[in-house]
Amino acid sequence: MNELFSRVSVRDYMPGKVEKDKIDRMLEAAMNAPSARNQQPWEFIVVDDREYLDALAKTSPYAGPVSRAPLAIVVLGNRDLMSAPQFWEQDLGACTENLLLSATCLGLGAVWIGIAPVRERMNAISDLFDLTENMMPFCIVAVGYPKERPQPHTDRNKPERVHYNGY
Ligand SMILES: Cc1cc2nc3c(=O)[nH]c(=O)nc-3n(C[C@H](O)[C@H](O)[C@H](O)COP(=O)(O)O)c2cc1C
Repeated sequence: MNELFSRVSVRDYMPGKVEKDKIDRMLEAAMNAPSARNQQPWEFIVVDDREYLDALAKTSPYAGPVSRAPLAIVVLGNRDLMSAPQFWEQDLGACTENLLLSATCLGLGAVWIGIAPVRERMNAISDLFDLTENMMPFCIVAVGYPKERPQPHTDRNKPERVHYNGY
């Protein structure tokens, strides 16, 4: 479980591109996430065009890492694929965590940029890619080879938060 514990948000990247086989592997990992009723409501926009990356970086006040990244993956929920629509954000969260963990496994660094449920951020992405109403932007994952890998947090194991057989 090394990668699970060494994963850390990486917000600064080397200029080099991310290889296509690594992008494909991350997307495979994302699409193997669990989802309610196995609805798999996800779609992805893979962005490596600098103009689009810079535009994406403006879709949220906290999306600055995208302007430094060689790659971003926009994670979308497609309403037309949802048989349990009330769970779409949980499905997409699991899918996004798989992207982050697979990036770590592949020697890459990544950070989750929150988009949904903030309406202005979702609209900004819909406008940028001219998305139809059924496509719901969930988050952006900025990816690249880490300029430096921050130390992972080591203070989050809190046994007092765990309750057995009742609270
Ligand atoms: C739902 C969600 C939204 C987040 N949004 C942003 C964001 O907009 N910009 C950013 O730089 N980091 C964002 N993060 C990353 C968190 O800041 C980061 O995961 C947290 O500080 C813990 O650090 P770690 O990922 O290094 O363990 C987000 C994380 C989650 C789970």
